[in-house]
Amino acid sequence: MILYKEENEIIKEALKGLKLPDRVYIFDTTLRDGEQTPGVSLTVDEKVEIAINLDKLGVDIIEAGFPISSSGEYEAVKKIASLNLDAEICALARAVKEDIDRAIDCGVDRIHTFIATSPLHRKYKLKMSKEEIVEKAVNAIEYIKEHGIKVEFSAEDATRTEIDYLKEVYKKAVEAGADIINVPDTVGVMIPRATYYLISELRKEIDNISVHCHNDFGLAVANSLAAVEAGAIQCHVTVNGLGERGGNAALEEVVTSLHFIYGIKTKVKTEELYNISKLVEKLTEVKVQPNKAVVGDNAFAHESGIHAHGVLAHALTYEPIPPELVGQRRRIILGKHTGTHAIEAKLKELGYTNINKEQFKEIVKRIKSLGDKGKRVTDKDVEAIVEDVIGRV
Ligand code: KIV
Ligand code: ZN
Repeated sequence: MILYKEENEIIKEALKGLKLPDRVYIFDTTLRDGEQTPGVSLTVDEKVEIAINLDKLGVDIIEAGFPISSSGEYEAVKKIASLNLDAEICALARAVKEDIDRAIDCGVDRIHTFIATSPLHRKYKLKMSKEEIVEKAVNAIEYIKEHGIKVEFSAEDATRTEIDYLKEVYKKAVEAGADIINVPDTVGVMIPRATYYLISELRKEIDNISVHCHNDFGLAVANSLAAVEAGAIQCHVTVNGLGERGGNAALEEVVTSLHFIYGIKTKVKTEELYNISKLVEKLTEVKVQPNKAVVGDNAFAHESGIHAHGVLAHALTYEPIPPELVGQRRRIILGKHTGTHAIEAKLKELGYTNINKEQFKEIVKRIKSLGDKGKRVTDKDVEAIVEDVIGRV
């Protein structure tokens, strides 16, 4: 197995002295925060199909939805909770009795309850004092625990909250019985160093810490990893990084980084990552960008002559890991940047083995000229060019 922590001198040195966990829990919120992506609305059957596949993938916890938000959502969470999957099924609930009762009614294993703590939310949204918020959080946690259900507690907008107050809220949450506390970077303002600092501070007093990073500045995955470096044991993620605004930390990116860079285990079967990405793309109708890390169509594609030549000689020259490890495949793309080695390989792949030097030169010229016209050269284009050249030269 590729393991950069062991094989890369720079990473090895950089991680020296850190006490990394052996294992990180993957809390998937594709069906809750991911479904909050503008324009996305899944039917009960679609949610069930995704839940079954997330379970096969090996995530530890599936946040199936927010039951109070609609009757369809309630039905979906209840159905998923009844499937007896290996993953723990979780429902979201504000720290209010009505939400919690609805979640309990779904028969879930875990309730993720939250209340905002930042000055902005206290003043403009909740219109509550610091003390009232603590009281609400404690009451909600105690109420859930009375029903024998696991509690995950989030201080919404934690990363824009005064740190001493945040510590107090979380400590009271743990005293009230919260099994794990989650730290949401609700509008994605954290940077990795700040995340590391915050989680280290919280770790001084609390053991079970989770992170929930949003991607407004494109730092959700980096922040999630910084949290793990500081001792977080669980990451909230979504398939394809779906979520409100810039989305959430992408499951496939967090998991592959943990496995192949840090050597930290999760239960996720990485070879299934591409399949789940495609399923979620199809059902949500949110297209995965081609250059998306790990699951994008270009994640293991090579066009430039230098790169294609390198990869054909030894795949790791221009690939961080073999594509099969994440269920992907290598694609050699022909275009104006293509070199002769890639064209030779493509011709072989298409079954053309008897091409002479002169024909080959002409084929290369035509492929590049098609590329120069701004076209991505497909296998069909190559076949047409070859047939024409073989016929004429
Ligand atoms: O981003 C956020 O703050 C959330 C909470 C509900 C935890 O999704
Ligand atoms: Zn969120």
